[in-house]
Amino acid sequence: MNLIVAVDKNWGIGYQNKLLVSIPEDMKFFRSETTGKVVVMGRKTLESFPGGRPLKNRTNIVLTRNPHYQVKDALVFHTVEDVLEELKKYPSEDIYIIGGSSIYREFLPYCDVAHITRIDHAYEADTYFPDMDDMPEWKLTGQSEEKTYFDLEFTFCRYERQEN
Ligand SMILES: NC(=O)c1ccc[n+]([C@@H]2O[C@H](COP(=O)([O-])OP(=O)(O)OC[C@H]3O[C@@H](n4cnc5c(N)ncnc54)[C@H](OP(=O)(O)O)[C@@H]3O)[C@@H](O)[C@H]2O)c1
Repeated sequence: MNLIVAVDKNWGIGYQNKLLVSIPEDMKFFRSETTGKVVVMGRKTLESFPGGRPLKNRTNIVLTRNPHYQVKDALVFHTVEDVLEELKKYPSEDIYIIGGSSIYREFLPYCDVAHITRIDHAYEADTYFPDMDDMPEWKLTGQSEEKTYFDLEFTFCRYERQEN
């Protein structure tokens, strides 16, 4: 199972239910990684998308504790356990956890690959991803050259869970 996230210098991921910054090349990377795959998200992340609509050309799985919540073109679940049961239907490498903060934390123990776009800037943030460099079970196994978007520098990083 994969997770995919863009983090700033302080592992911030969002502010006021929006992304910190939108980098076209990162959006393209997200699209190319997840298209045709299964994406798992929290209700707030779904509602942060344009029109609050699920992502096209992907199987969208949404978590909410609201038993009445319904979304067109998405599968809605109310517990992590029910999502994990549903995910058994798909190859693990086709599953992407796409946030936000609570969903990353809840599914991190089941993930073995993390695609992390590291943006070299500190934004004002209210939502964070856990610092992977502080987690001995995760190791940086690959990274792109440094990329730029105007004066912003960013790097695509791959972390993998280490087998013990
Ligand atoms: N930088 C990135 O790559 C990235 C990626 C994704 C999101 N984000 C940002 O992150 C922020 C949103 O993240 P967030 O952490 O605030 O919200 P979130 O994780 O997207 O959604 C939280 C909601 O998910 C539901 N939920 C969570 N755990 C659950 C569980 N165990 N069982 C049932 N439902 C559960 C609850 O919905 P109910 O309240 O409906 O019960 C909860 O309020 C935004 O700023 C967004 O832009 C950034």
